[in-house]
Amino acid sequence: MKRSLSRREFVATGAAASLAALVPRPVFADSTIMQRLVVHTDAEIGKISPELHGHFAEHLGSCVYGGLWVGKNSKVPNINGHRKLAVEYLGELGVPVLRWPGGCYADDYHWRDGIGPVEKRPKRVNIHWGGTVETNSFGTHEFIELCRLIKAEPYLAGNVGSGSPQEMRDWVEYCNYPRGSDLAEERAANGAREPFKVRYWGVGNESWGCGGNMRPEEYATLYRRFAVYLKEFGGTTPYLIASGPSGGDIGWSRGLLDKVRGDFPDGLSMHYYEGGEDAATSFTAAHMNQQLAIFEKVEECILLQRAVLDGYPEGRKIGLILDEWGVWDRIAPEDEKKYGSLWQQSTMRSALAAGLGLNLFNRLADKLYMCNIAQIVNVLQSLLITEGAESDKCVRTTTYHVFSLFKAHRSKMAVRVQGQEASPPGLSASASKSGNELVLSFVNPSADEDFRVVCTLVGSNAQEGTAEILHDTDLNACNSFEKPNAVVVQKHSVKVDGSKVQLDMPRMSVATAVVRLG
Ligand code: AHR
Repeated sequence: MKRSLSRREFVATGAAASLAALVPRPVFADSTIMQRLVVHTDAEIGKISPELHGHFAEHLGSCVYGGLWVGKNSKVPNINGHRKLAVEYLGELGVPVLRWPGGCYADDYHWRDGIGPVEKRPKRVNIHWGGTVETNSFGTHEFIELCRLIKAEPYLAGNVGSGSPQEMRDWVEYCNYPRGSDLAEERAANGAREPFKVRYWGVGNESWGCGGNMRPEEYATLYRRFAVYLKEFGGTTPYLIASGPSGGDIGWSRGLLDKVRGDFPDGLSMHYYEGGEDAATSFTAAHMNQQLAIFEKVEECILLQRAVLDGYPEGRKIGLILDEWGVWDRIAPEDEKKYGSLWQQSTMRSALAAGLGLNLFNRLADKLYMCNIAQIVNVLQSLLITEGAESDKCVRTTTYHVFSLFKAHRSKMAVRVQGQEASPPGLSASASKSGNELVLSFVNPSADEDFRVVCTLVGSNAQEGTAEILHDTDLNACNSFEKPNAVVVQKHSVKVDGSKVQLDMPRMSVATAVVRLG
C-alpha cells in the first residue's frame, strides 16, 4: 500500500486558528502538525473479536519456567506454582486466548510427558531452543489451570512434526471427553474430573519449517489424515487451525488448500514478525522507521491471504489467524545469557509497534479471526518480563500498557476512519463503537514530529470524553527491573465539542480516547 502525503498544516495557520476555541492551551511548539481525520461512526467494518488481542506461550527461554511458572515450592509468591504477580497482571489486562506449548516446540512435544505425578514425568531435551532439559513440570493440567486463573480461552498446538494422528486424537479425548473412557478417567485421576473443553487446536506449527520441513502438498495430506480423528468429544467441537504461510507466501496457502480437497480447516495460521536491526534498547530512529514500516507489508499480506481464502468455495468461512506477530529485534547475547533464549526488552518503540498492529487489526476486523502476539512473558515482544525463577520481580512492559490502552475496543464494532496515513511515520488511527460509546486509538510513530489530531465525527455527536496516553521522547525508554514504572499510561487531555474530538499526540505516543456520544 502506498503511503499518502502528509498534510502538514502548522497550528499557527489560519485554518488552525479557527479551531483555537477548541484548544485549551497549545502544548507544542509552532512546528506541531495538524492531522485531520473523519470518523464515520455508522460505517461498520466488523466486530473486533477479543481474540485479536490474543497471546502465545512457548517452552522457550524463560517464558514458562521462571516466567509464568515458578513451581509450588518456590519462595516467589505463587498460586499452585503459577507466579502470583504474573497471574494478577494478566488477569487485570484480560487475556482472551492463550496458545501453548509452541511454536516450534509444539511439533516435538508429547503431551503424555506432561501429565501425572510430577516426579514421574520424563526429562526431555528441548531440541529447538538451546538443547535445555525440559522437566515437564508444566503440562496440560498446569496450562489449563493458568488459563482458568487469568480467564483465557486455551489454544493447544498439536504435534504433527514428530507426533502421530493417534497421539493428537488422544490429547483431544483426554481434554474433552467428560467421563467413562480410559482417557477421561485418567484425567480425573490426575485431578480434573470436569473436562477442559478445549476448543482451539493447532494442527502443527510452521510445517514448512521447524514443524517438519514439508512442502504444502505433503502437509495437506497429513492435515487431512489428522483431521479425520480430531472430532467432537463430549460436545466440544474442535476448531482446527492448519499451519499456514510465513508472511505472504500464497504458494503455501494455495498448495495446501488445493490439496486438502474440500476438507478445509476452520482456521489458517499465518506468522509475520517485524524484524529489527538493533538490540531492543539501542535502536536508532532510522532502524525504528524501517521496522515500523513492516506493518504496511503485514497489511498487504493479510489482504492477500484473505483474498486467497475467499477464492475457494467455503473459503470465506476459514478464519485467518495471525498466530505469531511482534517485533523480533537483534537479540542481545548478554540478555540471553542472563534471562534465557530470545529474551527481549520492550521499549517505547516496541509500544509504537504494538499500537500500529492493534490499530491495523481493528481496521481489518472483518478479515481476521484471531491474532496472537509472541510471546506473553520474557520472549520477544512480551507483556511481562521477569528476572528469573528465584526473583519475585515481574515488570509490565510498554507492550502490556498498549494492550491495556486498546482493551476498550474489545467486542465493539470497528468503524471507518478516513484521513490517517497508510504507514509510519504518519499518524495511525482506528475507531470502534458500541451503543453510545466511541473508542478512538492513535499512534504517532514519528521520532521527531508532534501531531495535533482533530477528528470530525460523522453520524454522531460527542458529549464528553476521557483519554490516556503512553509516551516517551526516548524511543529506547523502557520499564526495567530497577525502574518498573518508567513508561506508564497517563491521563491525557481531550477536547470534545459536538462533531469534533481533538487531542495532542506528541512524537512517539500511543493514546486512546473514550467518547460518550449524544
Ligand atoms: O516465537 C518464536 C518462534 O518463532 C516459534 O517457535 C516459531 O513458530 C517461530 O518461528
